[in-house]
Amino acid sequence: MAAPMSRWIFRSHRTCFRARCLMKQLKIQEAKVERSISSQNVQHEVESSEGNKKSEKETHFGFQSVAEEDKENKVYQVFENVASNYDLMNDAMSAGIHRIWKDMFLEKFSPSPGTKLLDVAGGTGDIAFRFLKRVGTPNYGEVIDDIEMPRDVTAQVLHLSGLSWVRGNAECLPLPDNAFDAYTIAFGIRNCTHVQEVLNEAYRVLKPGGRFMCLEFSEVKNPLLRSAYDAYSFQVIPVMGQLIAGDWKSYQYLVESIRQFPNQEDFAAMIKSAGFRMVSYQNLTFGVAAIHSGYKI
Ligand SMILES: C[S@@+](CC[C@H](N)C(=O)[O-])C[C@H]1O[C@@H](n2cnc3c(N)ncnc32)[C@H](O)[C@@H]1O
Repeated sequence: MAAPMSRWIFRSHRTCFRARCLMKQLKIQEAKVERSISSQNVQHEVESSEGNKKSEKETHFGFQSVAEEDKENKVYQVFENVASNYDLMNDAMSAGIHRIWKDMFLEKFSPSPGTKLLDVAGGTGDIAFRFLKRVGTPNYGEVIDDIEMPRDVTAQVLHLSGLSWVRGNAECLPLPDNAFDAYTIAFGIRNCTHVQEVLNEAYRVLKPGGRFMCLEFSEVKNPLLRSAYDAYSFQVIPVMGQLIAGDWKSYQYLVESIRQFPNQEDFAAMIKSAGFRMVSYQNLTFGVAAIHSGYKI
């Protein structure tokens, strides 16, 4: 008796989630329409009528508190702003260490040829192209991102690689259930408004036995190292952002967002509550970043 009831609850929860997901997609469309209306100078009226409809829920955007429904647009704007200098700034801010972390991530992932990959928040393709290098091309993979980042490859190379790039939101993937062998997300999840929904979606699209892997900034536990790291993050990175990319605010947001993200243990607990098993993590560079892994069993 208990099993069918729990299945029913699970299904109705899923139905609610898909309905919310559809609502979210509609909201994204609405937001796009609003952006274009704003160029015709009637944004003020639209905002004031929208103001009445907005939910009360607040979330963080860096250290600011913002309405939940505004965060996605703000994050979108940050990545639109940084897109053209994205790779250059990553190298400058991390002195190239992000490349080593990404190599270690692939080493731990160890995909085999034929692995059907979904790389979410794929940006310029750092993870997807490393994946292809390991498993060989062509291979089947999809990269999801909510914006179009400039990529250093021609359309033909992209086509031959077998990778397809899709616009979409990690919280509401436009993809079927049980479709992928592996799901990767690198430096993307902390920018999402509902981190637990991203994890639930990862679980949904993975096949049974599939693997979830995440590379994200995390918490430096050692107090001495942490204060040096904080000084570097808050005093150097925004300055670099200003000097190299002419953009202080976006880089200020990026360092603040790292401090808002759950630490290693709390994030591992969220991965477990999405349903994943054999959840583990590995610190990189004293916990500046961490690789999280889990299986859909
Ligand atoms: C810091 S970049 C990471 C890119 C790449 N994975 C890497 O490691 O270099 C974060 C990416 O996440 C994307 N992003 C942010 N929020 C997203 C969301 N809700 N759904 C999908 N992509 C998102 C941004 O557009 C950006 O390309």
